[in-house]
Amino acid sequence: MKKFVKSLILFATVMASVGCSEAVKCDDCRAKEEAVKETILTRRSIRDYKEEPVCREAMAEILQCGIYAPSAMNMQTWAVRVVDNKEFIDGVTAIAVKQNPKIAEQPGFRNFFRNAPTVAFVACPEESYSGEYDCGLLSQNMMLAAWSKGIGSCCLGSVVPVMNSEEAKPYLERLQLPEGYKLLVGIAFGYPASEIPVAPERDATKAFYVE
Ligand SMILES: Cc1cc2nc3c(=O)[nH]c(=O)nc-3n(C[C@H](O)[C@H](O)[C@H](O)COP(=O)(O)O)c2cc1C
Repeated sequence: MKKFVKSLILFATVMASVGCSEAVKCDDCRAKEEAVKETILTRRSIRDYKEEPVCREAMAEILQCGIYAPSAMNMQTWAVRVVDNKEFIDGVTAIAVKQNPKIAEQPGFRNFFRNAPTVAFVACPEESYSGEYDCGLLSQNMMLAAWSKGIGSCCLGSVVPVMNSEEAKPYLERLQLPEGYKLLVGIAFGYPASEIPVAPERDATKAFYVE
């Protein structure tokens, strides 16, 4: 199956470069295409980080890339809060460990955010038809922008129930989310501390042309 998917990707790549050469004939376009494809295909969820927080200037650029994501009617239905305060991260970690002591048993465990030193919390309005979609696009923009700088990331849905728990209320309040917003996801950011994992297998049959 793996071989089949690999051959399919190779075939699609060859066909695209043959059949679409008109669209990418300028050298500049070709370089951009390679850079974007490289970033998208090599990004992995990173679950092991160095302790040093992400440099704030780099994070500002990552946020800028996030908010340049498309959103329905340009409503920008998102709120993003970045935390690189160790006291905050350790405080939420203590709550998460109290709720599920097993998480602290992972080798090298430092914190509940996959040991990340910087975490972005992404929220959208509770009542919004496009909020979750918009936030997904923003999140992916941020993760790709980070990866293009060698900064790893990992979406963390597991953060939500902990942050929404009664014990974590003071931390949720510190995020100063707008009234009526719900937390959707946390995104771990940091400099990878070990080898980049191999991509989990993708199912290429889930997307196809319909004639
Ligand atoms: C909405 C969402 C929630 C996720 N939650 C978690 C999580 O709680 N913990 C975790 O380790 N990874 C989480 N992931 C990461 C996925 O496991 C990962 O993206 C998937 O296995 C594919 O691997 P890749 O990102 O390296 O391509 C989440 C991803 C998404 C999109």
